[in-house]
Amino acid sequence: MSKRFIFAASLAMAAFSPSVMAHEPGTFESPIVEQRVAKFKQSGGDIQAVFKKHLPAGDMASVQAAALRIAAWADEMPDYFPKGSPSMGADKALWNDFSDFKNKAKANASAARALNAAARGGDKAAVGKAAKRVGGTCKSCHDSYRIKH
Ligand code: HEC
Repeated sequence: MSKRFIFAASLAMAAFSPSVMAHEPGTFESPIVEQRVAKFKQSGGDIQAVFKKHLPAGDMASVQAAALRIAAWADEMPDYFPKGSPSMGADKALWNDFSDFKNKAKANASAARALNAAARGGDKAAVGKAAKRVGGTCKSCHDSYRIKH
């Protein structure tokens, strides 16, 4: 099992971990923070489902749907981080180098689109590799800009 696979799986599980559940509605600084957290949770659930459900079942249609949702969120992700929207989860450093943040979102979007293409091709091993690459682009941004609690 590669490190990335473990990362992707554990990242997806984090979406349902008690520490995350402890985020009560009132603790968010703004509605936009609440919205972006919800969308990240969706991506977390999607990538987890790809590894644990869709891939083992050979359900390429569901892999494609998950990949396209991840890509669509990655496309709009920077818009959900306007200046002055700090949160417990976002490192303020991301606003110091916002073009780097945008590039990392772009890398996530293109990896997700590559996953969609691989799923269309139907080769399970290739799909697995592409899904791990998606996980790598999530991690790359988290390592720089996400604060875990
Ligand atoms: C360009 C940067 C970036 C990319 C790419 C990215 N994330 Fe994140 N992610 C963040 C930041 C920043 C936060 C913290 C947001 C906040 O709390 O305001 C976060 C938070 C999360 C959370 C926690 C949400 C919560 O419950 O608080 C999950 C789960 C998550 N991301 C999953 C993913 C997955 C899965 C991917 C890839 C498919 C991904 N992220 C790609 C930057 C990114």
